[in-house]
Amino acid sequence: MRMYDIIIKKRGGGALSEEELRWMITRYTEGDIPDYQMSAFLMAVYFQGMTDEETAILTDAMARSGESLDLSGIPGVKVDKHSTGGVGDKTTLIVTPIVAACGCTVAKMSGRGLGHTGGTVDKLESIPGMCASLSRDKFLDVVRRTGIAVTGQSPDLAPADKKLYALRDVTATVDSIPLIAASIMSKKLVAGSDCIVLDVKTGSGTFMKTVEDSVCLAEKMVAIGVHNGKKIAALITNMDIPLGYQIGNALEVEEAVRTLRGQGPDDLTEVSLALAAQLLFLAEKGDMDDCRKLARDTLDSGAALEKLVAMVEAQGGDGTCVRHPEKLGRAPFAMEVKAETGGYITKMDSAGIGIAAMLLGAGRETKESEIDPLAGIILSKKTGDSVKKGETVATLLTSDEARLDAAKERFLESVAIGQAAPEKKPLIYARVTERGVE
Ligand code: URA
Repeated sequence: MRMYDIIIKKRGGGALSEEELRWMITRYTEGDIPDYQMSAFLMAVYFQGMTDEETAILTDAMARSGESLDLSGIPGVKVDKHSTGGVGDKTTLIVTPIVAACGCTVAKMSGRGLGHTGGTVDKLESIPGMCASLSRDKFLDVVRRTGIAVTGQSPDLAPADKKLYALRDVTATVDSIPLIAASIMSKKLVAGSDCIVLDVKTGSGTFMKTVEDSVCLAEKMVAIGVHNGKKIAALITNMDIPLGYQIGNALEVEEAVRTLRGQGPDDLTEVSLALAAQLLFLAEKGDMDDCRKLARDTLDSGAALEKLVAMVEAQGGDGTCVRHPEKLGRAPFAMEVKAETGGYITKMDSAGIGIAAMLLGAGRETKESEIDPLAGIILSKKTGDSVKKGETVATLLTSDEARLDAAKERFLESVAIGQAAPEKKPLIYARVTERGVE
């Protein structure tokens, strides 16, 4: 078999056989296929797509390229959550303790942030002492003791995805539906959970700019999960504007804790409760209405916050910083961004705001960049709000004063003020299950 022939076949729109796909992934993972040939293949997929059967086989081949996490020795229903990535998306810090407090077991591997999107691992590591790169034994030990652990993605799981994702990142082939579906689901399959909820973000600042594309991606991922015996559902949620009001690592922990106290912003609370309820439903904790109530009651009772404290302490972190997040501290340099004119906020482009946060030090420009845990943005206004000339729209925070001006410029480019209130968009567009789209 030759990689050259596989590239030609895909370039011409042909469907690859199981043998070809498995051969390609094995040889690429072993280093026998060079990146330049794989890049050509990825670009061919970008333009020609893949059939559902090809996508399912690709996912399986990627999942089998390394080890898998065996959770069978851990009692209880194991649940997992995945977000396709957004700005201000701290829902993992809220959803996972809610479902763990309801008796589900959470053994979650999360990513680090890159570019304009943040990563749960970086958020957790803004808590002093917190270790989110646990060895496999330590990770399983924390899961057994507290019912919940969150750690960084293990390099032994789906190594083909790690290599492919790095290549896609530099060859402009990330935003291909079959490649995203295979990438996400290969990691979810090897992570060993029984139930999975996917949060597929749609809008500016996401891979999927339209609801139609997001639904299509969700349908593919749900189909792969069902085929592999998982209970799985996806919510399509709005990412035209950042979720909540705080963007940046320690700032997001603080807002998540406030939400776990029942005092969070409405959008963040609503999306988090919907994801938690969906996961509880998959874990058979009741019908959808029971699960919504269970999620809400668990949040209101404080049990979910106590679960987050237990997890942080089991992973070496300072639990008092979760109970009292003001102890996380504030960045020393702050700049208020004021409205240059009065009217309504008509746009708050989340990608641009994510980049502004990155420029402040909250995210990584390259994989090697150091994170400033205290850097970020506190929004005072969001899309739809009225604003007076000179009123504060946001506060930029950083530990490096020299970063403020560039971040302010990027922030201002991302926000528009008009004279008419914009049309309100839904927060949750659809739910995708094996029964279809609702
Ligand atoms: N997240 C992933 O893990 N993979 C993708 O391809 C896109 C988002």
